[in-house]
Amino acid sequence: MLMLRCPLSVQLSDALPSGTGPNPSAPPGQGWPPAAAAWGNQPPGPGAFPGYPGPPGTYPGPPAAPGAYPGPGPYAGVPGAFPGAPAGLGPYPAPAQPPSGPGFGPSPPQGAPAMPMKVPFDLPLQAGLMPRMLITITGTMNAKPKRFSLDFKRGHDIAFHFNPRFDDSYGKVIVCNSMLQNNWGKEERTAPRFPFEAGKPFKVQVLCEADHFKVAVNDAHLLQYNHREKRLNEVTKLCIAGDISLTSVMPTMI
Ligand code: GAL
Repeated sequence: MLMLRCPLSVQLSDALPSGTGPNPSAPPGQGWPPAAAAWGNQPPGPGAFPGYPGPPGTYPGPPAAPGAYPGPGPYAGVPGAFPGAPAGLGPYPAPAQPPSGPGFGPSPPQGAPAMPMKVPFDLPLQAGLMPRMLITITGTMNAKPKRFSLDFKRGHDIAFHFNPRFDDSYGKVIVCNSMLQNNWGKEERTAPRFPFEAGKPFKVQVLCEADHFKVAVNDAHLLQYNHREKRLNEVTKLCIAGDISLTSVMPTMI
């Protein structure tokens, strides 16, 4: 098997649908694209962890895959708001706010001092969501968290609400849902584990695919959420709120 740089104790193989690490209770068919570990059927990205931009300058554009990309649209070639972010939970390069990079405003100066990102935080997604759009969020749980949420919004509607709760009446649980025309739909509480810990750093990756979102936390696949709102291109905002401090928010195309 391909050796991948994976600085966390949780290995990428844990996210694979087969092998030694899958959670037996996880619903089938939720693996990340298999070939190159979690991201396999994507065109190869630079560096050891496809999907992650390498250091600044090594990811000038989308990896070459004629026809495989949505084209040189607003997100193509976005090296992420904060290029150079390592694949793990190490020290992150200075995030700037608002997010920047092509399509997201001017780039922050290299070596800019780290500044905390405000929460709640809104990330505009100029052209909306599209398959192969990956959004990576890093942060740290507050010391005594109750909950936080990622809301992918189409106007007032919430296409995808990802809501880890420490304080649910059932205990710690991840609630996913959509709010369409002011009505919450049926909650999905299928995550086989709760990977967040008070006071600990985390990385959440949300990959938009054609039919669903995939969510991985700390490099391991966690859950999948079928699109209820199909007009992905009209989902033009990500709102991040709750009991976290936010380190970086990085949209890329894989
Ligand atoms: C509600 C909660 C909302 C949202 C929703 C998801 O009870 O107030 O913030 O999490 O559940 O179904």
